[in-house]
Amino acid sequence: MRINTVVFPVAGLGTRFLPATKVIPKEMLPVVDKPLIQYAVEEALAAGAKKLVFVTGRTKAAIADHFDMAYELETELEKRGKQELLELVENILPDGVECVYVRQRQALGLGHAVLCAAPVVDDDFFGIILPDDLIDHPASPALVQLAEHGARIGGSVISVREVAMEQTASYGVVEVDGFEDRSGRLQGIVEKPDPADAPSNLAVVGRYLLSQRIFELLRSTRPDHRGEIQITDAIAELLRVERVDALRFVGRHYDCGSKLGFLQATVALGRRHAEVGAAFDAWLQAETP
Ligand code: UTP
Repeated sequence: MRINTVVFPVAGLGTRFLPATKVIPKEMLPVVDKPLIQYAVEEALAAGAKKLVFVTGRTKAAIADHFDMAYELETELEKRGKQELLELVENILPDGVECVYVRQRQALGLGHAVLCAAPVVDDDFFGIILPDDLIDHPASPALVQLAEHGARIGGSVISVREVAMEQTASYGVVEVDGFEDRSGRLQGIVEKPDPADAPSNLAVVGRYLLSQRIFELLRSTRPDHRGEIQITDAIAELLRVERVDALRFVGRHYDCGSKLGFLQATVALGRRHAEVGAAFDAWLQAETP
């Protein structure tokens, strides 16, 4: 299944990264030399996306600028004969890919952010990537894995990973009858359960392949006790009427919305970086006991 449209909900406040995120979007924080949003867009392009929908809010203008042309910079690089850097900047987005920006006026939850994209999503199935969930993929990007599974079952797919039982209160957690070849049909899903009530230790991380029906369900989803509309609640309704599978993706997940996850991603990707990886690795080994 080629995923034509991918939605990037990027309107959250990013409070865990204050003061860095007071004026800079969390999604523009770089892991080594690329902003988080660019890793996410590259993953969407690998899955075949031709339409990228960014659900933005205040302070997020830098995201649109990043994917726009930068005439002054490009002219200057050309004048100075910096061909390699020029190509790097020009190729951030390939030709034929459309960017659409939709505004979420108030941060009323992830489900609400996704619903804001409804008027510009025409496809039967579409992807969602949360850019702060960085998934490092040795073989194939996580959204590509979801697309392949979606094609097999002809239904929606959400990505999950195992977490420590005491961490379930930080995630959406799924109930699956059993896994075969890394996937299983979803029986239930709950948002941030206490470990004692959690149906499993399988947590949803930020990749979804969802059917268009989700929009209709989101419209009737009530806000939770914090006043937020959760995508989890709409998915709980979706699985009553359509097939939804959970897929344990292959790859390493870093929660770059948290300081610890962000540091872990920086070290892991920094050590493998073509230009500085070897020197960084040698430095780390010399500096850390
Ligand atoms: P988070 O739970 O990480 O919230 O949102 P946040 O506001 O970005 O960050 P903290 O917790 O305050 O530090 C998960 C994803 O959902 C998007 C966020 O941008 C992020 O990609 N989101 C969340 C929205 O787009 N709108 C919302 O109202 C809430």
